[in-house]
Amino acid sequence: MQKPLCLRGTGHRDGENFHFPSDCYRRRSSLTSGIGMQVKDQVVVVTGGAHGIGRAMCRRFAAEGARGVVVADLDAVAASGVAREIGGLAVRTDVSVPADLQALVAAAEQKFGTIDLFCSNAGIETGGGLDAPDEAWQRIWQINVMAHVYGARAVLPGMLKRGRGYLLQTASAAGLLTQMSSAPYSATKHAAVGLADWLAITYGDAGIKVSCLCPLGVRTNMLMGTEDPIAVFLRQGAIDPEQVAQAVVDGLAREDFLILPHPEVAEFFRRKADDYDRWLRGMKRLRASLPGMPEPKA
Ligand SMILES: NC(=O)c1ccc[n+]([C@@H]2O[C@H](COP(=O)([O-])OP(=O)(O)OC[C@H]3O[C@@H](n4cnc5c(N)ncnc54)[C@H](O)[C@@H]3O)[C@@H](O)[C@H]2O)c1
Repeated sequence: MQKPLCLRGTGHRDGENFHFPSDCYRRRSSLTSGIGMQVKDQVVVVTGGAHGIGRAMCRRFAAEGARGVVVADLDAVAASGVAREIGGLAVRTDVSVPADLQALVAAAEQKFGTIDLFCSNAGIETGGGLDAPDEAWQRIWQINVMAHVYGARAVLPGMLKRGRGYLLQTASAAGLLTQMSSAPYSATKHAAVGLADWLAITYGDAGIKVSCLCPLGVRTNMLMGTEDPIAVFLRQGAIDPEQVAQAVVDGLAREDFLILPHPEVAEFFRRKADDYDRWLRGMKRLRASLPGMPEPKA
């Protein structure tokens, strides 16, 4: 018989079942460091800044003393609300449209001067497997992957000229592990991690820093507004967006490539690399144990 999943407080492997400790983050969250990027006095752009993780980052960057925070989002009304609250600039942006990213960078530079930190954070989730419609695959590819390309194309030329700049790419733990109820989300988040890798390797010697943010469950609309069985599962160990913002500030200060607000993700990723087949067996067992998981469709 399957052992019940333990979601809290263990952080160890039980055979091949994965345990998701919920509050490891808190044990690490007081980290402060002074060696890498300090957000104080910097100009920062955050896409998807109107809600959830992006909004928490905007607020946190403002509290850290950023010189300018630009809140970029499809939801112009909510972006304006966040910008008003923190004394920033709201720019209505659809990150799937290259011209919007060019206009965003221009608007940010006009208001605050050159951009020090560009956070490409907007993302969407769409459920489904192979049966997900092609339009859904295209849409999520545009937003979860191409938006990072469009953002980098818009902001990198200036950073390269100055020989300095920082890109923070929000991917997901689903880009290192997987998201069992969504093939499009898993595939696009893996692609986002791959792109971040490539950016770090390609532009590192030109003075460009890259971090890749890979949370597990975070209490935002994306996680809380659905009855998807994996979302329901992840809610049990979910953290608040403010804790993600803390991890980001800490990760930037250390210039970590991988920023993991849930530290257990590092351990899961290590186990996956150590023994991929064993990891797949554990994930299959976990999938079979979760209530509500759909039958695989052809
Ligand atoms: N919540 C989680 O559990 C979780 C876990 C891992 C990774 N992430 C990632 O974190 C990022 C932020 O997600 P969140 O949880 O804060 O979700 P959210 O839905 O609360 O916020 C996403 C924001 O992106 C904006 N957005 C969506 N499409 C856009 C577009 N085309 N152009 C501009 N803005 C757009 C939305 O308006 C919203 O403000 C996403 O990339 C998501 O994949 C979330």
